[in-house]
Formats: sequence, structure tokens, C-alpha cells
Amino acid sequence: MKRVTKAVFPAAGMGTRFLPATKANPKEMLPIVDKPLIQYAAEEAAAAGITDLIFIIGRTKRAIADHFDKAYELEVELETRGKLRSLEALRGMLPVNLSYIYIRQAEALGLGHAVLCAQPAVNDEPFAVLLADDLIDGAPGVTKQMCDLYNYYQCSLVGVQNIAPEETASYGIVATEPLAERISRITQIVEKPAPDKAPSTLGVVGRYVLTPRIFHHLNHIERGSGNELQLTDAIASLLKEQQVLAYEFEGKRYDCGSKLGYLEATVEYALQHPEVRDDFEAYLKQRFCAPYKQD
Ligand code: G1P
Repeated sequence: MKRVTKAVFPAAGMGTRFLPATKANPKEMLPIVDKPLIQYAAEEAAAAGITDLIFIIGRTKRAIADHFDKAYELEVELETRGKLRSLEALRGMLPVNLSYIYIRQAEALGLGHAVLCAQPAVNDEPFAVLLADDLIDGAPGVTKQMCDLYNYYQCSLVGVQNIAPEETASYGIVATEPLAERISRITQIVEKPAPDKAPSTLGVVGRYVLTPRIFHHLNHIERGSGNELQLTDAIASLLKEQQVLAYEFEGKRYDCGSKLGYLEATVEYALQHPEVRDDFEAYLKQRFCAPYKQD
């Protein structure tokens, strides 16, 4: 039985919703408190036992490779200035046994195309896909939850959650048959249907564990929603020959691809952050609960 040891991080999108912040910087490098989104995703993968991190990067994405690289000058500088806490945090960022692979996606042809770019690094193995702008606070992390399920069911899995009926056009939407607690069999999957065309309100969230057979389907699909090669369409095609499960994960998801979701995540993670939580909470209380005073 093959275990999941590889994860793909598609990160070649344009990040238009965060311009100008994403003009010269990838959206996956936007920080939540003091860590970029891509690092939360990498930590979640590492905690699931994944050892090979495959980043699909595009224009302006060199920052991601630099982020996971050793920063000699910075380390020497921190050591010289005696900033040992920061040095320790930098060195202990991620486990040491990980391999980082960067694949350049020359054209942003869609999520399906990004995942297809990972084929030479994934080969014939099951793999996880994490969309870093879906930040999920879960214990254990959602990738670990899904890898455990993969070990049991030995088939592809898609993370899902119930979404508001008017939001179906922002998600892949699945129709399902119940199988076990939180787990159902996907009978249909559609990318971004209008509310009146959606088969349900179960939306795909950016976590997948896929069998390598998905590459065959990614190679054969045509451009779909948004004139892009959609992972959802390849999963729809995979469904015809292999079981694919929908998993209603345990955890709170923040849509950090939207400004509001990003701000919510910032507030919630700040309220958990040992360094700032007390002062931040006091600030919020004073800002929102104290009687209004005019200067
Ligand atoms: C992508 C997928 C979509 C999924 C969503 C989750 O869309 O294509 O099926 O529901 O991620 O965040 P995007 O948000 O990149 O347009």
C-alpha cells in the first residue's frame, strides 16, 4: 500500500483580489499575523507525514522558494545582534527532512493545469493538493485527517463544507450519497454552477488527496469554467472509473482569497498567538466594548 508522501501547492494564480499587495508578491506570501499562508499549508502537510513539497509557481513567485530556503545572511545577522529567539524561530520553521520542489507554470491555464504540471514530480503515487488561500484551523490538520482516510479507503478524497446557497458560483459543488459519518460518495461534481444549477450546497474546499490516475484525466479534459483547465472537470471524469469521496472535514476554514476571510483569519489567529493575544484582545475590547468617547 502506498502512503501519501507528496503534496502539491498550486501557487501560480494572479491574486487579483489583493492588488496592489500581490503586484510583485504572490498571494500565498500574504501573512496571517507573522507567517505567510504558504507556510501554514506546508506545516499542515508536514504534520500529515508528507515529505515532498511540490510548489507550482508562476510569475513573481520566486519569493516562495526564497522563503523555504536557508537565509545565511539573515541568520548571521540575528546571531551577531543576539536575537536568539528570532533565530530559533527561523531555523525551526519546518522539519529538516523535507524536500522542496519548484515547478514553473509558464501560463496560468487553471488549477487543473497547475496540478498537471506536478506530474513529473508525483509520478505514480497518491498525492495531496493544498490551496494555501484556504486556511484551515484544524487539530489534527485537515491533510492529516484526509491522509488517514486515504489509508483506509484507498481512493481519492475531496474536502467539502456546506456553503451558502447563493455562493455556489464560487466553488466546485458535489452531489453525494452518504457512506459514513462526514464521508459520502461523490456522484457528480460541477465547477462553479449558478445557484439554480447547483446539485447541492456542498462546496469543495482547497484540500484534495488524489490517486495518480487523475493525471490521465487532466490530460484529456477540455477548457471549462473561466476558459481554464479545471481540476473539478478531471475529478468528474475520474469518477466514471474510480470512487471519489467527499469529506466534511473537522476544522474552521477561512477563505483567505477574499479580503473579508483574510481579515477574519488575521483576527482569529492573532487571538491565539502567544505573543500578541492578550494585548490584542484588550485592544478589541477597548475598541468595541468601551463606551464611545469623543476627544
Ligand atoms: C478552486 C476550485 C474550486 C474550489 C475552490 C476552493 O477555485 O476550482 O472547485 O471550490 O478552489 O477554494 P478558485 O477559488 O481557485 O477559483
